Amino acid sequence: MKHFIECTDFSEEEFINLFELARRLKKDASYQPLLNKHVGLIFEKPSLRTRVSFEVGVKQLGGHPIHIKGDEISLGKREPVEDVARVLSRLVDMVMIRTFSHDLIKEFSKYATIPVINGLTDYSHPCQAVSDFLTIMNHFGSLKNQKIVYLGDGNNVCRSLVKLSKILGVDCVVSTPKNHLLDEAQYTYVEDPKEAVKDATVLYTDTWISMGEEESGKGTDDFKAYQINSDLVSRASSKAIVLHCLPAHKGDEITYDVFEMNQRHIFDQAENRLHAQKAIMAYLMAQK
Ligand code: CP
Ligand code: NVA
Repeated sequence: MKHFIECTDFSEEEFINLFELARRLKKDASYQPLLNKHVGLIFEKPSLRTRVSFEVGVKQLGGHPIHIKGDEISLGKREPVEDVARVLSRLVDMVMIRTFSHDLIKEFSKYATIPVINGLTDYSHPCQAVSDFLTIMNHFGSLKNQKIVYLGDGNNVCRSLVKLSKILGVDCVVSTPKNHLLDEAQYTYVEDPKEAVKDATVLYTDTWISMGEEESGKGTDDFKAYQINSDLVSRASSKAIVLHCLPAHKGDEITYDVFEMNQRHIFDQAENRLHAQKAIMAYLMAQK
């Protein structure tokens, strides 16, 4: 039995197979590995893409999604995390959790006897990274010779992108203000965004203020030089595409015109959440 809490939970070979499975599932709606299975979807934070793509994905695979609002069960407050994990393990077949604390999901997965999927924590967002690479592969036909440059805040989305790049052997550069560095052991850091984007085939950004940081006093001034605008795009490869995990704050991390120029790729990326997560769920169910 496997969980998908971190990108490091799967090998390069497993990811390559997942991309293949995602493409197959997109074309073939008859494969229903979740037939009559129930999947719990716990949300302690807001969501559009994760919620809808998981609900639709579970249904397309023949299963039944059960949406569980974080404040209804108050994980760890109304009831210990280990007990919720053991109860849900008796009632449903798989669970996805979006929460603040990464330790909470790790604790949950220690006690769960069903597969647990990370739908975003303050630390990482692995399902997003799988969808991002599926988007890049579909667009360029291959991951060979790609250079991904992530600009902005060294956050959960950035961390998963860096981790999956490493597993897949793809060049990934992170360009953030020094006081918002990604807290990760090994990655390529270039402080100057204009320098970082040279020869980039993918420019990637995310909001400068993540969910849960709204009241922290974290300002956006430090990030201004890291905005993806037409000047920065003109310094990248001429075939470069711009990605954004969404939701976007146009005028902050990305300009309105760069967003619109790349909207096809950005919304492909959002759609690919569905295909990637269907593959992840199908794979985890097969390992059970
Ligand atoms: N990208 C992403 O995870 O979007 P949601 O927060 O809307 O789920
Ligand atoms: N870094 C963002 C990603 C949202 C999908 C956040 O955690 O709010």
